[in-house]
Amino acid sequence: MPVVTIDGPGGSGKGTIALRLAQHLGWNYLDSGALYRLVALSAMNHNVEISEERQLGRLARELDVEFVPHGNEPVTLMDGQDVTGKLRTEVVSAFSSCVAAIPMVRSGLLDRQRAFRQAPGLVADGRDMGTVVFPHAQLKIFLTASAQERARRRYKQLKEKEESVNLSRLLLDIEKRDERDRTRAISPLRPAADAHVIDSSEMGIAEVFQEILRLLEKHQVIRKDMLS
Ligand code: C5P
Repeated sequence: MPVVTIDGPGGSGKGTIALRLAQHLGWNYLDSGALYRLVALSAMNHNVEISEERQLGRLARELDVEFVPHGNEPVTLMDGQDVTGKLRTEVVSAFSSCVAAIPMVRSGLLDRQRAFRQAPGLVADGRDMGTVVFPHAQLKIFLTASAQERARRRYKQLKEKEESVNLSRLLLDIEKRDERDRTRAISPLRPAADAHVIDSSEMGIAEVFQEILRLLEKHQVIRKDMLS
């Protein structure tokens, strides 16, 4: 069963690219970041503190979640409730990178992530897809962009949703989250040894997408006629 992994820091465009690629190929899609965000949200709902590692591990193992395909933004249900809007808030983003550093949370989510590998294939997006969760993936991409560019993209996104935002605050939050993700002891954010690193700072989504299709064809994961 072919697996393509797309790892990278937040705001690199990997979510958009991974979803578009999964739709293009007719494959399954795993947004592993959403699982860490759900653990964070669940902990917030149940007043579980970051020091309560065992409890957080249990929340990760027992998450009741469903992803319902819905255009470009799948609807996420937790305990039957639509939590899609809550998942992407800055407070959940920050807390998710804290819970993601806890080994019991990561191990609690491992089997759930691997279960997404089903016919006819999987596009998996996250931080450790190519290094830990799917080390034998057919193609591994590490998509990155400068912190300034990622903050600018996030700013634009939030402005479109008419949320009040401050660019320098966003940049600071992104740098803090990157630092936590890169320096944690377990599954830190880093490219797999066999990953293709793409810097999207000066590339549009369409250009990155074409580059990944080209790599897929080169590695014989897809045929030439699936290039466009
Ligand atoms: O990708 P996204 O920004 O939604 O991820 C939210 C957080 O979840 C990240 O900051 C990271 O700490 C964590 N994460 C992770 N491993 C993954 C995916 C996300 O640690 N595979």
